[in-house]
Amino acid sequence: MRESLKQIKSSFPHADLFEFRCDLIRKPDVSSLMRAAKRPCIITYRTVQEGGKYSGSRDELLAHLLTASFLGAHYVDIERRLGLRFLHEFVRRRGDTRVILSRHMCGVPRDVNRVYKDLDVAEADVLKVAYRATGASDIMFAKEFLSLAKKRKRRAMGIAMGEYGEATRVLYRIWGGWATFASSNGGIESAEGQLPVRTMKNIFRADTLNASTRIFGVTGNPLSQSKGIFLHNPLFRQSKTNAVYCRFPVKDVRKFMKKVAPQLSGWSVTIPHKETIIQYLSSLDRTAKEIGAVNTVIRRGKGFRGTNTDAPGALDAIEQVRRVKGKTMLILGAGGAARAIAFEANKRGARVLVANRTERKAQSLARGLKLSAIPWKDIRNVQFDFLVNATSVGMAPKTNAAPITTIPLRGKIVFDAVYNPRDTMLLRQAKRSGARVISGMEMYINQAALQSKYYIGKLPSKATIRRILE
Ligand code: ATR
Repeated sequence: MRESLKQIKSSFPHADLFEFRCDLIRKPDVSSLMRAAKRPCIITYRTVQEGGKYSGSRDELLAHLLTASFLGAHYVDIERRLGLRFLHEFVRRRGDTRVILSRHMCGVPRDVNRVYKDLDVAEADVLKVAYRATGASDIMFAKEFLSLAKKRKRRAMGIAMGEYGEATRVLYRIWGGWATFASSNGGIESAEGQLPVRTMKNIFRADTLNASTRIFGVTGNPLSQSKGIFLHNPLFRQSKTNAVYCRFPVKDVRKFMKKVAPQLSGWSVTIPHKETIIQYLSSLDRTAKEIGAVNTVIRRGKGFRGTNTDAPGALDAIEQVRRVKGKTMLILGAGGAARAIAFEANKRGARVLVANRTERKAQSLARGLKLSAIPWKDIRNVQFDFLVNATSVGMAPKTNAAPITTIPLRGKIVFDAVYNPRDTMLLRQAKRSGARVISGMEMYINQAALQSKYYIGKLPSKATIRRILE
């Protein structure tokens, strides 16, 4: 009870409605909870059978719910599995309390019509379905459920639990849902995948979205490190764009393209899908085609067009310090990042040299773009103006490493594509030996600004992005 009252206080400014999971509170005092909430409340005793902790008898449960009703609860949650007799008994004896009729499932049910019909009982004021999502396309069940309810003018909630279901918690209004659940600030979640109410309101502004809100997002796996939601949502807000940016963790790109992509206006693509996505797009711009990797997708008519803002983002960051035309750039690495930077630097007139720990890969990259590859052990003997780290060395959590350590860098310009941490070991060493250094963070900011231009139609200033990220 003490913890509950604390959580009410901390989420008070953000919540329009409180749900009290009485099955998770030792000796719940419904009257004190409702008094503290000063808002409409839902009283819930989730049973063990539906993933909660309540294990008392049905008669006891009915007594708890009726007590809550007499104390003035606006809503109680009644599980459909308790049967219609239970529901009728409650309704016959209740005060003004309304009923949320709910069903909680482990997996995604096959037949949405059947699930809907089962819940569409006259005595229910709100129909709620919650299930566990294990893939991105599982969110579509919630949308279909909500659209059935909307057609029949019923209030409903459709929630996919777990990280794969996050979007259903955010997009509910766009799909006609009645309400969503969030965890209290700093409190623990009562269901897997719940977002803190502060994030829900201040970042996603979930309560202000509507049927004409355009949906954007980021696809990849994992997405725990992705900063996109914290950047693009505030940019939408500042530019007064009716749009939202969600996380869509994706395992199966084909399924995602078939089921989820048709709902989206565009999205960012991150590891490991930057190359896989290409086969599902209707067109690519020149940069994406040449690099063979896409980090941004935009809807074009019925299809989708892929582009790549990583490459220009990196070169813009470097050219903020000095133009690369006619200069020599040594790129370390031969993966996707190296390829993007090598392509763009070459396009802007730099003389590009590629070196990689596995020499064969450097040679193959160089051959494709008609550049020169040099053996890793010969790096010391090469003359260059720009040094670019496009390997993953130095990236968190292994921050105490640099791809090269004993090369003289005085007077050179050193760029590290690694942006976490901002000050990599390579950059720290380079600075000490008198080089000009550019952080990967600058590339991140540039590529995000270019992405935002595709989403919003206007390039945000870097100062704005910096302010938001800080
Ligand atoms: P990305 O798409 O981000 O470029 P990647 O394709 O996995 O990621 O490429 C990682 C790059 O970092 C590769 O060039 C890799 O070298 P190998 O081709 O020899 O694997 C490089 N890399 C990773 N760890 C390294 C290390 N300890 N020393 C040197 N290079 C390393």
